[in-house]
This record gives sequence, structure tokens and C-alpha cells, in this order.
Amino acid sequence: MLSFNPAAAPVVLAVSGASAQPLAQRALELLLEANLAVEMVTSRGAIGVWQAELGLRVPSEPEAQELFWRERTGCQSGLLRCHRWNDQAAAIASGSYRTRGMVILPASMGTVGRIASGVALDLIERAADVHLKEGRPLVIAPRELPWNLVHLRNLTRLAEAGARIAPPVPAWYHQPRTIEEMVDFLVIRVFDGLDLELGSLNRWQGPLRGVHPPGQDRQEPSTLPPSEP
Ligand SMILES: Cc1cc2nc3c(=O)[nH]c(=O)nc-3n(C[C@H](O)[C@H](O)[C@H](O)COP(=O)(O)O)c2cc1C
Repeated sequence: MLSFNPAAAPVVLAVSGASAQPLAQRALELLLEANLAVEMVTSRGAIGVWQAELGLRVPSEPEAQELFWRERTGCQSGLLRCHRWNDQAAAIASGSYRTRGMVILPASMGTVGRIASGVALDLIERAADVHLKEGRPLVIAPRELPWNLVHLRNLTRLAEAGARIAPPVPAWYHQPRTIEEMVDFLVIRVFDGLDLELGSLNRWQGPLRGVHPPGQDRQEPSTLPPSEP
């Protein structure tokens, strides 16, 4: 008898048209560097945001997108399959195609609203609907500020349906020194929702006594004495 191994299944990375597209690129890099199989879908809105935020022309055709991301990330490991934004016949549009789970990073309020209403107009919405109906992990990283009551109700609805709502909200306890460190923190924390360890993170271990007084320079964890039990 064959048994399904979720750890070997592909990860769906969906990118919708909210701000913070660099998080999506970093997620793709980390997934490929971890030698994972990635099914990627970029919404039509996201293609416009890439252009507006970074002046990048992301091609809409899948093969051209795969080449584009390989070149841009400089990463040749892992498996990458891109899908057209409206390809409702793609493998990930069917529940019979098994995945490890899906992450929408970043998630626009439009995409959130349509998934929350069960409206599957494009492939991201259909694949999200499929992940919910199959009871598979669906992590949604909504990006908007502030949230209105409609956004909050839609997100609540999705949480009630089984999605994990993981907004890319920065933290300072890991003492980031650069934007890149902050980006890595956000991406890695979002992918915790799929039980993936995508990189090394200065995770909180509890206060370490006798070190790290306020106002002093950060110390690397490896140089810190062990904390008391
Ligand atoms: C530069 C730029 C930034 C945007 N940022 C956001 C955002 O942070 N959150 C959001 O919900 N929509 C944002 N939008 C609007 C969405 O892109 C727009 O609603 C789009 O239709 C969403 O399409 P999608 O949900 O299919 O990706 C932004 C648009 C542009 C051009």
C-alpha cells in the first residue's frame, strides 16, 4: 500500500496584489534553497504591484515566469512550476492533487474577501478554496493598514473555516539589524504555519539572566552563556 508523505508534497506559494512583494520573492528563494517543490501562482493584481513597487515586469506566461524567477533569485535548486493567474485547470485547482499546504503571501483584501465569500474567480481563490475543503493547511498573510470591519469579518470567517491568519507584522525581540533580517523573520514565521523551518532565526528562548542589559549591544546567541534552568 502506498502512503502519502506530506513532507515530499509541493508547497503552493500564492502571491496576490498587496504591498510587500519582496516577502514573496524571499519566500520563493528560501523554499527553493530548501530544495522543495513549489507551485507558484501570481495574481494579475500582483503583477501590477511588482511593477509599481520595484519596477519589475513579471511575465504572465508560466514558462517565462519560471525563467524570470530562476534568474532573479539566482537559485537553481528545488522544483518550480508557475501557473497562469486564471488557469482553473491547473493541478492545484483540484483537491485530488495533493500538496503540503498553501501560503498566500502577501494577501490582498480583495483576494481575502473573495475567498471568504467562496468566490473563486482566479487560480489563487480556487486553490485556497480547495485547501479549505480538503482540510489542508492554508496560511494567509494579509497586508493592509488599517483593517476595516469588512476586512476583519472576512479574516475571521477564514479563520473559522480553518485558515491560519499570519499577518506579516514585524517584531523587535529578535533584534534585527537590517531590513533583510526583518524580511527573513516575517517569511520564516509565516511558513511556521506549514511546519517548515525555512532558515535560521533568532527565536525567543526566554530572558537570559545576567546578559543583555537594556541599551547594550546585541549579543549573538552562540556567545551567550546558557540560561539558568
Ligand atoms: C502599489 C500598490 C499597492 C497595493 N497595496 C495593497 C495592499 O497592501 N493591500 C491590499 O489589499 N491591496 C493593495 N493594493 C490594491 C490591490 O492590488 C488591488 O485591490 C487588486 O485588485 C488586488 O488584486 P488581487 O486580489 O487579485 O491580487 C495595492 C495596489 C497597488 C498598485
